[in-house]
Amino acid sequence: MEEKDLGADLASVLVTAEQIQDKLAELAARIDEDYQGRDLLLVGVLRGAVMVMADLARTLHHPVEMDWMAVSSYGSGTKSSGVVRILKDLDTDVAGRNVLVVEDIIDTGLTLSWLLTNLSSRGPASVEVCALLRKPDMIRVDVPVRYVGFDIPNEFVIGYGLDYAQKYRNLPFVGTLAPHLYA
Ligand code: IMP
Repeated sequence: MEEKDLGADLASVLVTAEQIQDKLAELAARIDEDYQGRDLLLVGVLRGAVMVMADLARTLHHPVEMDWMAVSSYGSGTKSSGVVRILKDLDTDVAGRNVLVVEDIIDTGLTLSWLLTNLSSRGPASVEVCALLRKPDMIRVDVPVRYVGFDIPNEFVIGYGLDYAQKYRNLPFVGTLAPHLYA
């Protein structure tokens, strides 16, 4: 999908495809260095993190394992409540492993906070977080995020894994939606 495929539905491109790939290369270089000589399990959070996971993993030189979790946050509409249900759990036992949670975006941080508590209770050697996007104004809980791609304004964004009503995940960039779609 390209910019022009959205027509009037796209308000603006916030992070271009090139900026995303450059940033992922930067983050991958840091991750390669930090995990040198240690095993590494990437845990992607479905469905939003699919693109970040695929591109980050391919940029790493480190031989990683990859596994996936799907969680759903109970809440009203688009608001996160922090009460989370596991829809799909990991197939991997994380006991003694170095876990790096790969996220698309941290909004309130409530989902991630719950996830970190859950994963930590399984006895991993370490748990860190890599998120492509973060909305700093929205962080309601203090979540330690070791690798962050971009701090973005508090706007609803789409693309590169992020959806609006399950659409636009397959955009190679991150953009904002035209206001007429919210009405
Ligand atoms: P949190 O618990 O509020 O941090 O919610 C995080 C999850 O909400 C992300 O993993 C996304 O799936 C979703 N989300 C938050 N902000 C946006 C956005 O701007 N666009 C699309 N999805 C979003």
